[in-house]
Amino acid sequence: MTQILPVHRLNQAPDHTSIAEWWASEKQKGTEEAAVVTKAAELLRSSDIPVGFPTETVYGLGADATRSAAVQGIYKAKKRPSDNPLIIHVDSLDMLSRLLNPTLTRDELANPNINSPRNQIPAIYEPLISRFWPGPLTVLLPNPKGSLLAKEVTAGLPTFGARMPSSAFARLLIHVTDRPLAAPSANASTKPSPTTAQHVYDDLNGRIDIILDGGPCGVGVESTVVDGLSDPPAVLRPGGVGIEEIRSCPGWENVKVGYHDGALQSKEAPRAPGMKYRHYSPKAQVVLFEASLDSSSIASRVKKQQLDIAMVSGKRKIGIVRTRTWPVALGLASDNIQKLTVHELPVTSLHDTIANINNETDSSPLIIYDVDLGPGADSIARGLFSALRRLDGLNVDVIYVEGIRDEEGDLAAAVMNRLRKASEVAVTV
Ligand code: TXA
Ligand code: MG
Repeated sequence: MTQILPVHRLNQAPDHTSIAEWWASEKQKGTEEAAVVTKAAELLRSSDIPVGFPTETVYGLGADATRSAAVQGIYKAKKRPSDNPLIIHVDSLDMLSRLLNPTLTRDELANPNINSPRNQIPAIYEPLISRFWPGPLTVLLPNPKGSLLAKEVTAGLPTFGARMPSSAFARLLIHVTDRPLAAPSANASTKPSPTTAQHVYDDLNGRIDIILDGGPCGVGVESTVVDGLSDPPAVLRPGGVGIEEIRSCPGWENVKVGYHDGALQSKEAPRAPGMKYRHYSPKAQVVLFEASLDSSSIASRVKKQQLDIAMVSGKRKIGIVRTRTWPVALGLASDNIQKLTVHELPVTSLHDTIANINNETDSSPLIIYDVDLGPGADSIARGLFSALRRLDGLNVDVIYVEGIRDEEGDLAAAVMNRLRKASEVAVTV
């Protein structure tokens, strides 16, 4: 059995200039949550079973990045393909610097006579790091000769991805463990990423010992992955930092979109190995309607598709994820309406269609579950994975999702990227 251990208070603590001082005072107070962190850090240092923990983006499944057996534990628990490398999480630039300079001792690194640790990070990253770290940005760095990182972390690539989370709790855990933590998202491979401890539990119960529960994640989608070692630099995965924000940094004006998700075309093979896999997928079929569609094409498409499903397999449960313009009434007050009585609702093409389907096909009632993620990209990002998981838990057969425009906000490209990957059917003009 996997234990869920609360760390809400520490996870909500205001950011601290010095994590070390914060930890010293927490330890002195001897709180229960401090004991949880101590225990988690001990497990991370000694056990080969990874630990679930909150970050600002999604929950991570952490292991000591310097120990092969511990890192292998991550792949095992998630059933993750071994050619998909992991992100390293650091609590400080010093920790990162040690990874880039494995032959230097701590004292040497701290010695003012050698270059400051900061200067040993490729210069192209300086503007990004000073603006977005700590935060949801992962940078690719050269993995040096004699690297301290377990080889499983990089899956054979000459680079490693690193980020410094803005979650002060995550940095505290890294600090107390005193190791860089390799941590992918804490979902079972192919499932939507977890944004609550319960999501981690649902996927990994029995496969890991503890999950640290800090409440729901603030960002809700994973970090943006950038490669500044290539020329021009590239975004390999859209995420918590917007592409336009990156483009506005010196040296990044020509940043390329190095991933493809159907909207932004690129002929190259994905360079972040993780981006080629089926991903973020609930059990239900996800049908994504791109934002460019008008309501009549949505209606005809839903009708055809829903009829097909109903005719062929008698599937009768639908989930709807609304974001912006699909009418409120489509989502009914409660999320468990049997036998939708459509005429009581303001008429829209989409519901007309659903009403028709209900009449045309037989007997078993059509059940619709509605989720409104709210209009802004930020709130959509925060609720997206949770909505997909929730609908899956209700055993819907199909989830219709209203897309947003990629340009609609810093997080919109990340939201649409996850949806395009989750959907088996994408409906475009
Ligand atoms: O927000 C996040 O980044 C979360 C939290 C837990 O920090 N972590 C996360 O990790 O999303 P994961 O493993 O689910 O996704 C890592 C992505 C994958 O697409 C992987 O292929 C890519 O980063 N990646 C990691 N190292 C890489 C490398 N050396 N070269 C290219 N891509 C890399
Ligand atoms: Mg992941």
